[in-house]
Amino acid sequence: MATEGNRLDPWVDTYASRAKVMTASEIRSLFAVASRPEVVSLAGGMPFVSALSHEIMGDTFARVIKEKGNVALQYGSGQGEVGLREQITEVVALTKVQTHPDDVVITAGSQMAIDLIVRVFCNPNDVVFVESPSYVGALGVFRAYECDVVHVASDELGLNPTALDEAIKTAVKLGKTPKLIYTIPTFQNPSGLTQDDKRRKEILEVAKKHNLLIVEDDPYNLLAFDGMVPRAIRADDADNVVYLGSFSKTIAPGMRVGWAVAPHGIREKLVLASESAMLCPSNLVQLAISDYLKNQPWLEQVKVFRELYLERRDALLDSMKIHFPAGTTWTEPLGGFYSWVTLPEGFDATSMLPRAVSALVAYVPGTGFYTDRQGSRNLRLSFCYPTPERIKEGVRRLGEVIRQEIDLRNTFGVTGNLSAQSGDLTAPDVI
Ligand SMILES: Cc1ncc(COP(=O)(O)O)c(C=O)c1O
Repeated sequence: MATEGNRLDPWVDTYASRAKVMTASEIRSLFAVASRPEVVSLAGGMPFVSALSHEIMGDTFARVIKEKGNVALQYGSGQGEVGLREQITEVVALTKVQTHPDDVVITAGSQMAIDLIVRVFCNPNDVVFVESPSYVGALGVFRAYECDVVHVASDELGLNPTALDEAIKTAVKLGKTPKLIYTIPTFQNPSGLTQDDKRRKEILEVAKKHNLLIVEDDPYNLLAFDGMVPRAIRADDADNVVYLGSFSKTIAPGMRVGWAVAPHGIREKLVLASESAMLCPSNLVQLAISDYLKNQPWLEQVKVFRELYLERRDALLDSMKIHFPAGTTWTEPLGGFYSWVTLPEGFDATSMLPRAVSALVAYVPGTGFYTDRQGSRNLRLSFCYPTPERIKEGVRRLGEVIRQEIDLRNTFGVTGNLSAQSGDLTAPDVI
């Protein structure tokens, strides 16, 4: 029942507790400004879909409707179209994951798969272990289901297994219930880091020692700049790992098709949870992707994306070297979309953002990738969408802003007062 609440939203007192933690960021309005064409946005991680032939896509959809209209326009299987599930087993084999179509669940993007897994596994206050920093969209899911998120220390190879082991022991000592380890081992969002094979095995050992399920989120794996696809953690253990993938970065995010490869029992629960959320994924889109995978040289198209993103990454790294002041450091990703920048001691990337947007460049402040207010000296720069020229110009502007910040600090001490609530960035703005 609606109560007085507040005048803007009379229902505010009636929301479930989980809805109360779903908050929009105070920096959201800045992202609205950042989408103006004069602003170079290094913020959003939008794939460069212009590089895809829209004509081929149009023909594909038209053919599916013409040849399979009655199936394409109908409800379908909750688990997803069997032909596409078969093709997904071939896609994941590129990461050395061996699986059967029965163990694949097709979802509306891998984002939905994260939501389903947490829905199936987590009670309020259950602990989810994540990297430092971690993907904002997953943090949003963990918050929505009232999980306790523990950021585990990461190093240059990503999630640190010793720190993970310690964090799990500490949680147990505190009487908490550890539930999931959520990791993005390849070209991580937002750090751009990649776990090597040894690291992956160590993480798996820690998970097995504590009897914890790993959620391996792997949407960027085919975007390795050297073309060498890293071996998935799931390739070494089909029982303790749910493996998530997506066509968002290799075909197009507008398709909204991702998947989970899960141990048998978990798979059944995921299908039931998915059916309650959306009955079934879109037959039309699944059949179009299936047709595209079958009839187009789709790995050639992925190569086109890779080469394009490599050129943009180089533009970003080269121009950071030129324009960023000493004391600023960044990661050098070997694939994917992102570099993670650390500003000199004492800087606050959130309070610097309004100045950056005034200087016509945008980024995502690091605090958004944590639930515990870490990351204030960090920012995520995406190189996937702007052209190399725009990236260079954006970095030049940003370097200027950082220098001004240094001058301001030298003159007036600490600057700025805008602070993001940790983990409260709204995913679609910064995905
Ligand atoms: C690490 C990670 N997981 C999941 C997703 C969600 O992707 P999808 O479009 O498949 O839902 C993203 C999107 O950027 C991501 O970076």
